[in-house]
Amino acid sequence: MTTYTNEFNRSIEQPEAFWAEQARRIPWFTTPKTVLSYDDQQHARWFVDGELNICHAALDHHVDQGRGEQPAVLWDSPVTESKRTVTYREMRDQVALFAGALRALGVEKGDRVVIYMPMVPEALMAMYACARLGAVHSVVFGGFAPHELAVRIDDAQPKVVVAASCGIEIDRVISYKPIIDAAIGQSQHKPDACVILQREQQQAELGDNDHDWAELMAKAEPAECVPVKGSDPLYVLYTSGTTGKPKGVVRDTGGYAVALHYSMEAIYDVAPGEVFFSASDVGWVVGHSYIVYAPLLRGCTTVVYEGKPVKTPDAGAFWRLISEYGVKSFFTAPTAFRAIKKEDPDGKLLAQYDISCLKALFLAGERLDPPTFHWLDDLLDVPVIDHWWQTETGWPIAANLHGLDPMPTKAGSATVPVPGFDVQVLDREGEQAKPMEQGSVVIKQPMPPGCLVGVWGDPQRFHSAYMAAFPGFYLTGDGGYFDEDGYLFIMGRTDDVINIAGHRLSTGEMEEVVGAHKAVAECAVIGIHDSLKGQVPVGLVIPKDGFEGDELALENELIALVREKIGPIACFKQVLVVNRLPKTRSGKILRKLLRNIADGKEYGVPSTIDDPASLQDVHDAMKDRSVGAAHEARQV
Ligand code: COA
Ligand code: AMP
Repeated sequence: MTTYTNEFNRSIEQPEAFWAEQARRIPWFTTPKTVLSYDDQQHARWFVDGELNICHAALDHHVDQGRGEQPAVLWDSPVTESKRTVTYREMRDQVALFAGALRALGVEKGDRVVIYMPMVPEALMAMYACARLGAVHSVVFGGFAPHELAVRIDDAQPKVVVAASCGIEIDRVISYKPIIDAAIGQSQHKPDACVILQREQQQAELGDNDHDWAELMAKAEPAECVPVKGSDPLYVLYTSGTTGKPKGVVRDTGGYAVALHYSMEAIYDVAPGEVFFSASDVGWVVGHSYIVYAPLLRGCTTVVYEGKPVKTPDAGAFWRLISEYGVKSFFTAPTAFRAIKKEDPDGKLLAQYDISCLKALFLAGERLDPPTFHWLDDLLDVPVIDHWWQTETGWPIAANLHGLDPMPTKAGSATVPVPGFDVQVLDREGEQAKPMEQGSVVIKQPMPPGCLVGVWGDPQRFHSAYMAAFPGFYLTGDGGYFDEDGYLFIMGRTDDVINIAGHRLSTGEMEEVVGAHKAVAECAVIGIHDSLKGQVPVGLVIPKDGFEGDELALENELIALVREKIGPIACFKQVLVVNRLPKTRSGKILRKLLRNIADGKEYGVPSTIDDPASLQDVHDAMKDRSVGAAHEARQV
């Protein structure tokens, strides 16, 4: 039996013993006695009666163990031409002070704090400061528009919002304060105060309820770590679901800390003192887990990069960072490498850097498409590892366990289930699919530590979104299959969620925005293949009877509306006005068929279609407007 099989079987057959052992590897104030229990939806809960503080485990503990002078954070910001090193001791002290500042604004254990910040060390400090107080942070990605921020403020009901004065994109400085003011203007819930980190690239004008970060810090008293229960929430992170309202994924504290610590060893193979670089953003789950919490829980150094894979200044940026900081393990999304490959197809820029420190490259956020895998595999001398996970699980569900038992790689596969995750593929009837047979990918309860404990304020939604489809299993929302060797292939979502440049967005939400326009009678938004971003959305719109306006103007208005309501990150840049949409006789738009046409595939006319001519109409419209590969699609 291989080391992997042995460890995996133990994790499934004796989950309590397995995770109790892992729990002993992180510092608790009170060791948990109850390792595994279940909530009333039969969903696993871990370490409910243990007491800890993740800020203590990630910062104070390491300072106490003699890591005070080791860099905790290496900040590299080509967009501001700045670099900064923050040691563990500095990090702990800054976090303690900012926690004191938040407390002075009334933030206590259990209160929520919304954080809207770019990739600066203070974003991590704000997150850890909340954790230190036992407050619950909710970080919102900077690419989301005021409306999206408002929806999250209303749902999380924060006492305080922490933000920076601006974020910086390749070609522009983005003022955050007007976005925050607009969001608070729109939200029903009004936070008591905003804390603004003033950046020299653009200072914000502060209002009555606004506080300057630096001024607060100057007068703050440091706060100690507040003990919280293993099951107490650490954060709420909103993610796209199938409806317009994002889901607030709630993460606990104890299970998350244990799972992340385990993953740093078993999956990423990094030891205390080594450098880990995850090129994501603190606004996404990858950022939460592998920029902010996991590296520091493990006593590593984390690289915080405020830049892009290309154009800041060139496609050699990642190689430079790896070489300059001695990165051992590097993690990003495949789309970043597709962008690099486009600018530097032969990887020539790599020759300028010594990246012998790098021992493995990890990719996630979307499927690692075989061409990108082969490009990287040919270019680099280290394992290129695709691994699959989602906001809800908080850490990888399937991976090649580089630190435990590396296996041969298969292009297009995320390799095998990670210990703790009893992954199964079910057919429509809920029966286990045979090898090579595609179905719904589910996880049998108990899910391991680290996974979501609920949807914020909405147990019913948790049940309907994840637990109802197959009782006893968590529904991942992904489709896929196991091959004959037990390798898992994740092939894409089975719902309305699409993946744009490694970012998860909901076409349902875009449809709500488009459908709300006064001239729109009906619409469909579909995700189509894009060679750089994986997928991009395309809108198909039927105007209301009697619409006599300019169709092009309407299309542009709709593009602007999605950008205004959801944000630039939705990449909603193509809309087509059509006369009719293909539907079933019961009125369901045939979205999969539309996607197949846009992706240039062969398609048949389903027997359930109401009006077969509508299909040809839409196909012609897509061809005329050069949507995706519609010109290659053929009706068979
Ligand atoms: N604040 C404000 N706007 C933002 C933003 C932020 N934090 N992040 C992105 N945007 C904007 C961009 O400026 C762009 O606006 P535009 O339409 O005016 O050009 C839009 O949102 C889309 O951004 P993006 O998807 O980043 O596209 P891009 O063309 O600028 O860059 C890539 C393409 C591939 C380089 C980029 O998507 C990338 O780095 N992807 C990696 C993804 C990743 O790390 N995912 C995390 C999951 S692991
Ligand atoms: P997010 O919650 O934003 O991390 O997005 C999670 C979704 O991204 C998953 O449900 C998958 O659809 C997709 N995804 C992430 N990583 C992978 C991967 N390695 N292979 C295939 N799909 C992935």
